[in-house]
Amino acid sequence: MTFSVAELIEKRQTEQYPLHRRYINTSLARVQGIIGFDKIYARGEGAYLWDVEGNRYLDLLAGYGVYNLGRGHPVVKQVMQEVLALERPNLVKMDCPLLAGLLAEELVNHMPPGLDAVFFANSGADAVDTAVKFARAATKRPRMVYLDHAFHGLMLGTLSLNGGRQFRELFEPLMPHFDLVPMNDLEALERELSQGDVAAFIVEPIQGKGVYIPADDYLPEAQRLCRKHGTLFICDEVQAGMGRTGRFLSCEHWGLEPDIVTLSKSLSGGYIPVSATITSRSIHDKTFSRLDRCQVHSTTFGQNELAMAAGLAALHVLDEERLIERAATMGDQLLAGLAAVQERYDMIADVRGKGLMIGIEFKAPASLRLKAAWTAAERAQKGLFAQLVVMALMRDHHILTQVGGPEVNIIKLLPPMIIGDEEVEMIVSAFDTVMGEAAKVRGRVWGQSGQLIKAAMAR
Ligand SMILES: Cc1ncc(COP(=O)(O)O)c(C=O)c1O
Repeated sequence: MTFSVAELIEKRQTEQYPLHRRYINTSLARVQGIIGFDKIYARGEGAYLWDVEGNRYLDLLAGYGVYNLGRGHPVVKQVMQEVLALERPNLVKMDCPLLAGLLAEELVNHMPPGLDAVFFANSGADAVDTAVKFARAATKRPRMVYLDHAFHGLMLGTLSLNGGRQFRELFEPLMPHFDLVPMNDLEALERELSQGDVAAFIVEPIQGKGVYIPADDYLPEAQRLCRKHGTLFICDEVQAGMGRTGRFLSCEHWGLEPDIVTLSKSLSGGYIPVSATITSRSIHDKTFSRLDRCQVHSTTFGQNELAMAAGLAALHVLDEERLIERAATMGDQLLAGLAAVQERYDMIADVRGKGLMIGIEFKAPASLRLKAAWTAAERAQKGLFAQLVVMALMRDHHILTQVGGPEVNIIKLLPPMIIGDEEVEMIVSAFDTVMGEAAKVRGRVWGQSGQLIKAAMAR
């Protein structure tokens, strides 16, 4: 008996939304319908997706940052096929697999000094949870300090480090001893650290939710305070790492030397989930501190051959194609283009970012007639204007973007790092047109406001 997934897809392609409504996440499937994201995609390559009717879409979600190298990168694909063809003995337990050793060596070569021991897992949340456990074991202290707006994952440990009410409220109480401080408030941070019981302070050097970038002196000073009070400094690079911001790690923009770094997302090259928590040998060994503790922290699929090979391929492509430099150059170009659009529309409050991690923030318009439309939308749901922009970019320009977080009027762009002049031009021109429509009371952008307000009220 044969089984062909290609035949199965061909036969049932149009059933994806009914299947999801019935068996998976009904609310998400409904939201996608409401915002016009309920496409049936048939193919993905590079920075683009194609639907079953052959329409092309520019993907600035990039799988939430997984596709830094673009979809279906030929080198990563070839390596995946090679691993399958080799029929290597995968997941032999009580083994020290070669590819894990090689990927660890390669990652260490990309790290700031002193980070030379690696733990592999499967997701960003796994990596952060590992960092928290390593910090507790190394310092014998209970507390964690994290930032307002932080996002480190949605499993219970990482959710306890989440700076957004909307993610937390259904699931409380969360971990005790995990405390929030506002970004850029060094006094608040030192108040917490000086109590002497904080294992680690964790930051995303550039925050994923909202693309908030700290003041220039904040992170270096925060690192200094951590050292002073014996607290470990963790940089969560799950989203901003792997070159996205124009440096291999985003913390390099400030010359930071964290005690622990987390990576995931595009380390997989887009194929197999993988994450890494990288720290010093001395911190790592405080967890695996005795022979009978050699597996005190582990996960079944960590170090699997496909994930390790994907990681090696992804790092090879990143270096070989000089994609980090490309992210810096294209990012500067895109930011400059968007900043020029900002000059023309008073509803754009800010265009910010580093490399190809970009946020565009909106504010209420000055015109009284437009303000009425804005206020009605914001009253129904905060951040609804940003959603209207996301919908217009999709509907009229076939560009996928996302609202930058819950209840914020920010959209986020995470283009694959392979984009060129053509894509930058497409993004800037589409955004300019959409803002032109938003500046008119009867513009197309506002056309779906009533429908969104109704959906928000019905909620
Ligand atoms: C900075 C950061 N840390 C951790 C995570 C969690 O990663 P995952 O969704 O793979 O658990 C994310 C996910 O977006 C992230 O952006």
